[in-house]
Amino acid sequence: MTFLKKTIITLQKQKEDNDKITMLTAYDYSTAKIMDSVGIDCMLVGDSLGMVMLGYENTLSVTMEDMIHHTKAVARGTKDALVLADMPFMSYQQSIYDAVVNAGRLVKEGHAEAVKLEGGAEFSPHIEAIVRASIPVVGHLGLLPQSLNKLGGYGVQGKGYISAKKLVDDALAIQKAGVCAIVLECVPALLARLLTRILDVPTIGIGAGPYCDGQVLVYQDMLSIYSEFKPKFVKTYAEIGCDMKAAFSSYIRDVKDVKFPAEEHGFKIDDSVISQLNSQYGLER
Ligand code: KIV
Repeated sequence: MTFLKKTIITLQKQKEDNDKITMLTAYDYSTAKIMDSVGIDCMLVGDSLGMVMLGYENTLSVTMEDMIHHTKAVARGTKDALVLADMPFMSYQQSIYDAVVNAGRLVKEGHAEAVKLEGGAEFSPHIEAIVRASIPVVGHLGLLPQSLNKLGGYGVQGKGYISAKKLVDDALAIQKAGVCAIVLECVPALLARLLTRILDVPTIGIGAGPYCDGQVLVYQDMLSIYSEFKPKFVKTYAEIGCDMKAAFSSYIRDVKDVKFPAEEHGFKIDDSVISQLNSQYGLER
């Protein structure tokens, strides 16, 4: 199958054409290649890699080096999808200068084509500066995993009028600052619908109901590979975690029982060579 290279212009057109945007997280070359081959629109190298790839409790320990390392691998496995990389905790919060330098590193060293950062109006100046450097920025509102300690947990955001209105104001502010799309995480479906209607840029939902312009999931969640925690909004598409356990167990059994490797998995040597060596070392055939 052939697909066309996706850019932020493609995503904007998809909103206008009512063609849902598909996004999945990816963190390595082989997975990126598979996702790309089936026509995913955008691959997000999420800082969720801290949990699903590196085994941290949350995203706060993820470094720029982690993000660059994984983004490079995903970019190498991707032909058509847009490669979007998360800006990790403390790579943009401290200053506009840090924000531009680190967004630049994700593009220059990681080969990302856009960056994503969490937060509302307070980050408008950072977004403006990154966009001015010709780097597309995706916003992220609602549940902000990097603000876990401030929010006190991973609950749904924007349920009451004040917090819902703040979310709308933040969305409009970061749109004005220049974001090319906004991820909405864990917000009520009807609030996500309102945002999708009033915003010019596409919305990408995760736990934000069916009305967004697109959807994103962490692929380990949808494949049941990550077993620590399963959010309510995840749909299981395959039990790959179980399949992996079964395959690894079979491998262990086969090796113990000397069923693997079989003859067809080995390489041949000329009989005369091995006979000569066997006799040199006093071994039977
Ligand atoms: O890091 C991540 O995987 C994300 C998604 C939850 C949107 O930001």
